Amino acid sequence: MELLTTYGNALSAHLHKAVTVKEPVQLYEPIKYILTLGGKRLRPVLTLLTADFFGDNFKEAMNAALAVELFHNFSLIHDDIMDNAPLRRGKETVHEKWDVNAGILSGDAMLILAYQLFEAYEPAQFQELAKLFSKTALQVCEGQQYDVDFETRDDVTIPEYIKMIDYKTAVLIGAAMKMGAIVAEASESCCEGIYEFGRNLGIAFQLQDDYLDAFGNPETFGKQVGGDIIANKKTFLYLTALQNGVPGDVETLEHLFSIHPVDPEDKIETVKEIFINSGAATATVSEIETYTQKANKVLETLQLSEDKKQKLREFGTWLMKRTV
Ligand code: IPE
Ligand code: IPE
Ligand code: MG
Ligand code: MG
Ligand code: MG
Repeated sequence: MELLTTYGNALSAHLHKAVTVKEPVQLYEPIKYILTLGGKRLRPVLTLLTADFFGDNFKEAMNAALAVELFHNFSLIHDDIMDNAPLRRGKETVHEKWDVNAGILSGDAMLILAYQLFEAYEPAQFQELAKLFSKTALQVCEGQQYDVDFETRDDVTIPEYIKMIDYKTAVLIGAAMKMGAIVAEASESCCEGIYEFGRNLGIAFQLQDDYLDAFGNPETFGKQVGGDIIANKKTFLYLTALQNGVPGDVETLEHLFSIHPVDPEDKIETVKEIFINSGAATATVSEIETYTQKANKVLETLQLSEDKKQKLREFGTWLMKRTV
């Protein structure tokens, strides 16, 4: 998306300057590796974009933006260990390329490096940014714990699922945007409004991530397709299929989500068929749209020019159509 290229390029230049490999290389190499694998860099770009929309110097938000991306990548390294994931951005995950210990410690170091970046801000802003960051990071941990707990529970509800993805994913997207607003010294109501916008978009984003995990194209997706099915993740797809599937399929689904076959290919295929036949796949697509619309509703209350609002709406639409 054109709007994002300027911010993405600026962030990339800053990242290459700020993140270097030094001794002990076993600690810093995995950090450099994951960060230079790229990814969409949505969160830092949103920090910069928001700073630009509410102020006039997005470069002031560069350290906050990089902090958000460092935190995100730290959470991915640990998430891949927890999810036993082999692939990230089309390449080996850190714990596969090195080992679990390297993933744990490099991840820890990234979290600390992220905090350090806030030291670039004056005390009042530093406090506001660090406070938001700490609150958000803790919520991400809570969300991740729910996600793991749900793997072995068979009574997860859709509201519980929404809360889980709100915490593990959406709050960080909201916080990324709010940080840009804080750096730009936007009003309290703008800071809160943009946070709510990002959070609703974040829920849509995770719903889409879950959808792509099942139905993405293995050639381009960059992660293991079917990974959530292998791990018995209680996604919106799964929970809706349980609610709307025919009795035989529901029974099959419940059984398949209580086992861990050595060769998961048949399980993945059967589950995907049930996701489609029960209407869960279509329901997920419309839920993604619902949360994107909710985000757009919040936008209406914000003090931003119509032109900027339109750009944010276009961003939401673009996000819905993504394939990676
Ligand atoms: C993956 O995030 C983790 C989720 C919260 C779904 P992204 O899809 O933003 O991953 P990258 O950074 O672009 O690889
Ligand atoms: C990840 O959720 C959320 C965090 C990393 C906090 P997922 O486990 O669905 O993310 P992917 O699919 O591995 O990127
Ligand atoms: Mg994962
Ligand atoms: Mg996970
Ligand atoms: Mg996922």
